Amino acid sequence: MQSLQHLHTFSLPTSCNDILTFDSVNSLTKLLESLHKSPYIILGEGSNTVFTEDYCATVLLNRIKGITIKDDKTHYLINVGAGENWHQLVEHCLRKGIGGFENLALIPGTVGAAPIQNIGAYGVEIERFIFKVEYLDTFTMTKASFSREECAFGYRDSVFKNQKQNERIITSVIFKLPKQYKLETSYSPLNTLKTPSAFDIFEQVIRTRNEKLPKVSEFGNAGSFFKNPVVNQHVLENIKSRYPKVPVFKVEDSGASKHTLFKIPAAWLIDQLGFKGKELGGIACYKNQPLVLVNLGRGTGAELLLLAREIRDSVKATFNITLENEVRLIGKEGLLSL
Ligand code: FAD
Ligand code: EPU
Repeated sequence: MQSLQHLHTFSLPTSCNDILTFDSVNSLTKLLESLHKSPYIILGEGSNTVFTEDYCATVLLNRIKGITIKDDKTHYLINVGAGENWHQLVEHCLRKGIGGFENLALIPGTVGAAPIQNIGAYGVEIERFIFKVEYLDTFTMTKASFSREECAFGYRDSVFKNQKQNERIITSVIFKLPKQYKLETSYSPLNTLKTPSAFDIFEQVIRTRNEKLPKVSEFGNAGSFFKNPVVNQHVLENIKSRYPKVPVFKVEDSGASKHTLFKIPAAWLIDQLGFKGKELGGIACYKNQPLVLVNLGRGTGAELLLLAREIRDSVKATFNITLENEVRLIGKEGLLSL
């Protein structure tokens, strides 16, 4: 057995049968052939994956590197190996005078995982910059790609998140960034900056994230544990009648009806129920951001599941809202639901 504690940011003391690394499509193909269809999971930097117990199969680490940048009069086209670190790409681009990614600074993880849940922060989601996502189709063992439209992006969602496990392994991502663009400053605290540059936004996002979110080196965590729920007018009115100050953000329904829907911060729902700072064994609901569950250093997967279920059930009982996981929970045979 090999330890997984250092390979996922929640840092639970878990193991797997074997850990293998690939750094090219060729080496990935060879590894898959050598596995003879035995189970495996692809892992980037493990910042959205929690191994809740020993995983009885193989972990394949994606370390495909390389960044090439081309440009024409209006756009940059940036082809990035899926194993590159996301934040380093943001910095690399800014140093070259290429802006666009600054609101997404300091999001942990690999470039290859970024399209899977359409990473987002401070008013920007990665989908707006995706030109193509290149992947290995593991049924046909051939290379293929999806355009942005084919990725079917949504809030923390894409075709890759909903696929059968390991159906497509992302090998590189091609981003298209316009040379002229409007900086996204509508979100607090970016809206307090006076005529900021892309670099000012980058620095402010880093400051804000460092204030709000726990450092993974201090407390193991996987960022937001649940997604922010999106509810209809009826559910919202019901909550408003009891909690007139409920914070709420309008979102347009992408379905045929085009009804207005409302995003309610899960952090607020959890906060109302008094979970902030609550500890269950070695796991806690983070004191500054209750949407983040943390490993106090001695936590177990069983404790994490207990606390997460308690939060989910309390939110359901009080608000009639079912929280969905944002993180990927892995049990001994693969993906777990809460
Ligand atoms: P992993 O956890 O390694 O993998 C995630 C999933 O994708 C797994 O199911 C894995 O099997 C699959 N996978 C990984 N790579 C591939 C591949 N190449 N091909 C096919 N499948 C693959 N997310 C946000 O959107 N916004 C935030 O602001 C944000 N903040 C965070 C803050 C903290 C402190 C932490 C710990 C996490 C945060 N996250 C955030 C979540 C996380 O950073 C992102 O989901 C990130 O994209 C995960 O990258 P990873 O390489 O670590 O993915
Ligand atoms: N809130 C409380 N109590 C708290 C903290 C927050 O009530 O202790 C309420 C406040 O109303 C606040 C609101 O929750 O305005 C939103 O909080 P915050 O700005 O911290 O953002 P979030 O909705 O909790 C989302 C993403 C983050 C992303 C930030 C910034 C999800 C699930 N999470 O968090 O992404 O970084 O916005 O854009 O959408 C992640 O995905 O892992 C992640 C960290």
